[in-house]
Parts: sequence; structure tokens; C-alpha cells
Amino acid sequence: MENNRKVTLTYNDGKDNLEMPVLKGTLGPDVVDIRSFSKTGMFTFDPGFLATASCESQITFIDGDLGQLYYRGYPIEQLAEKSDYLEVCYLLLNGELPTAEERKVFERGIMRHNMLHDQLMSLFKGFRRDAHPMAVMVGVVGALSAFYHDSLDINNPEHRKISAHRLIAKLPNIAAQAYRYNKGLPFSYPKNGLTYAENFLHMMFSTPCEEYKVNKTLALALDRIFTLHADHEQNASTSTVRLAGSSGANPFACIAAGIACLWGPSHGGANEAVLKMLDEIGSVENVPAFMEGVKNKTHKLMGFGHRVYKNMDPRAAIMKETCDEVLNELGLHNDPKFKLAMALEKIALEDPYFIERKLYPNVDFYSGIVLSAIGIPVSMFTPIFALARTVGWISHWAEMIADPAMKIGRPRQLYTGAQRRDYIPQEQR
Ligand code: ACO
Repeated sequence: MENNRKVTLTYNDGKDNLEMPVLKGTLGPDVVDIRSFSKTGMFTFDPGFLATASCESQITFIDGDLGQLYYRGYPIEQLAEKSDYLEVCYLLLNGELPTAEERKVFERGIMRHNMLHDQLMSLFKGFRRDAHPMAVMVGVVGALSAFYHDSLDINNPEHRKISAHRLIAKLPNIAAQAYRYNKGLPFSYPKNGLTYAENFLHMMFSTPCEEYKVNKTLALALDRIFTLHADHEQNASTSTVRLAGSSGANPFACIAAGIACLWGPSHGGANEAVLKMLDEIGSVENVPAFMEGVKNKTHKLMGFGHRVYKNMDPRAAIMKETCDEVLNELGLHNDPKFKLAMALEKIALEDPYFIERKLYPNVDFYSGIVLSAIGIPVSMFTPIFALARTVGWISHWAEMIADPAMKIGRPRQLYTGAQRRDYIPQEQR
């Protein structure tokens, strides 16, 4: 939306001034529209996109200073308390909460797509048993495009919808089978009648020789983890999905690209890092020495700080409550790892080093503890993040493809390499 504010760029070399419009969103800071700037023959320089909005979007809003996160306008706290993951998926994809009938149809659509093509199972067997589950996921999700040719026309809205449903439905199955293959367990199948989170636990932990009873409290905690990780506007992996999709690549290939990006330790790997840090510290007596190391910048306090949130990450507050519920349910409240985490949190929240730098716990400080208490191995933390984020990725992809103004993403550069020079034959070098 344009308003009447303008930004004027003045040059100190006599060139004409350039007036650029200021765009106003429904929430958040105003944005200078620099599109006309490229006509001047110059480019803007902004590595890491610290000052650049890469697109217009109506899906998710974050106010990092106030610690607010909204999906389609609904605060994350309300969704975490009153909604569930599948309803949140519908909301992110469609923009509105479903009626009872819409919910039923959507849920049936997801459940009917949760099996994997049988030949896809052979693909898992091509990996080494000790492969990281994220490596398996990048490969298997990319390979979905070789199996589901009937939903690859990105210009057909019905195809886009079916692909989105397939991805949301199949990701938990793919993640669970990646884990089982690594453990040497036989592949498992989804069981309709269970909720999305219950089904994931069932696919992860059931065995053919005895019945697996899903613990409702743990399934609810997992559902909440899925909800909290469902979307986070234009983060690195979502931007990767958009960039891949901007060339017209199919949605399965684009989501595989998003998974690859998420795998990096600066993005999806933080909850894994929190657990490793707690193991390294060992016990509460070692906390002061560890904190000295943090202040001397020998190491970071993992699970603290965020590029966008300079206040409490709203997801962290919800996750802390869930952490309490899960540890109570499992009788683990005196668990030394949890006590250690609470000691770290208390010191960090009172210490001027963290207060001055606005470093607060982020969602990953607690989610690792919850996942670990549920019995999920550390190597599966990022795959769980990936399966939960798939709906966010595909919602952004669909929003971009449906936009008639979509253009291939093609950043420019500030070239600092060699000037033009002539080729020198090898014998003269
Ligand atoms: N522990 C100790 N000090 C920290 C931490 C931390 N976790 N995070 C930032 N700082 C310090 C920096 O050293 C810096 O100090 P200085 O001003 O004295 O140089 C200051 O706080 C500002 O830090 P930046 O690195 O500029 O903050 P940035 O916004 O670039 O980084 C990031 C954000 C990468 C998340 C960082 O806080 C971090 O590495 N945290 C630990 C990893 C983590 O938990 N990541 C999960 C993010 S949530 C998610 O992805 C779902």
C-alpha cells in the first residue's frame, strides 16, 4: 500500500535527486520502494538482507521488539492454547480459520495422503544406515517429484493444493522412516484415526510385536511444538523455498531446498545445540564457570538470543509451560538436565550482560528439553522442525506463485574481482 510519504535520494555529484515512494503495511515498519533505483544504473548493497524486504506477504507477522508473532493476524499464544496444528495448517494455507465442515474435509484430505509410494521405500534403503535423517529427508522429499507427476503443474491451483496436502501429510512419515531406517527398525505405516501428532509418535515408536499406546499429554506437547514452528515469515529456509520456486521449480524440489537450508546450525540446529551444551556443562555447580566463558565470548549460551526478537520470544514462554507439563507427566521434574536449564535461565535473565544485549531465551531453549523428555533422539530435532515448517514453506510458495507480479528472484552483486584481462597460455604463466 502506497501512502503520501516519499524518500528523496540526493547525490553529491550533481545527478538529479531520486524520489522513492514509501509503502505502508497493515503492521510493522514502513518500507522504501527502491524498484525505480535500478534505472539509475546503480544497485543497493545489503548482504544478509538486514534492511531489505524481499517480498510482500499476508501470512505471518513478527514484532521482534514487542515479542509478538501472528499467523494470519492471530497471536501465537491464542493459537497454541485454543487451536491445534492441523487447524493452523488450514489457516496458514487458506488465510482463514476453517468451519467444522471445512476442517473435516481438510483433515480427510491430509489423512488420505499420508502413505508413501511403496517404491519410495526402496530409496531409503539406498542410504547408509548411519546417514543423518536430514540427509535422507533432503533426498526423499526431492524425490517426491519423481513419484507424483499428477500434481506438478504449478499454474494449476488444484495441483498446487494437492501438492501442499501431500507434503503436509507425507513429511511426518518420511521423517519417521528416516529414523527407523537408521535404527534398523522395520518401516511403519500411518494409522488414521490418530491425530497428526499421535500418528507421528505411532510411526516413530510402534513395533510390529506389541501395541503402541500413545500418551495424550506427550502428543499434545508435540502438536504444540509443531504449531510454534509452523511459520516464521521470511527466514532463511522460507526465502530459499521462495527463490527456488521463483524459477518455476516444482513444489517438492522447492521444499527439499528449504530442508537443506534449515539443516544449517545457525537456523534449525539450535535445539540440538542446547542439549549438547547442557551435556557439556554437566551439573549446576559448573554454571558460574560456563557463564564466565559466555561473557569472555569463548562460547555462546545456546537457546538464547534471536536475530529478530529483542524481547522474550513469545514461543519460548509457551514452550516453557509445555516443558513443565511434560516433565510433570513423566515425573522428571527433578531431572538434573531440567534443573540445570532452569539455573542457566535464572542467571541469564538477571545478569547485566544478557539484559544489556537484550538476550532472552528463544523457543529452542525449551523445545530440545521437551523433545528429549518425549524420547526423541537429538538427531531427529531438526527433522521435526522441518516437518512442522513444511506448511509455512508451502504457504509462502503458493502465495508467491498465485501473485501475478511474481518475478524470478535474481539479486545483483557488488563485484570486487579482477578487471578484464587477457588469457595467458600455460607455458607463459
Ligand atoms: N550467548 C552469548 N552472547 C550472545 C548470544 C548468546 N546466545 N547471542 C548473542 N550474543 C551477544 C553477541 O556476542 C553480541 O555481543 P557484543 O555486542 O558484545 O558483540 C550481542 O549479543 C549481539 O549479538 P549478535 O550476534 O549481533 O546477534 P544476532 O542477532 O546477529 O544473532 C543469533 C542472533 C544468531 C540467534 C545469536 O543470538 C545466537 O547465536 N544465539 C545462540 C544460537 C540460538 O539459540 N539460535 C536459535 C535462534 S531461534 C531459531 O532459529 C528458531
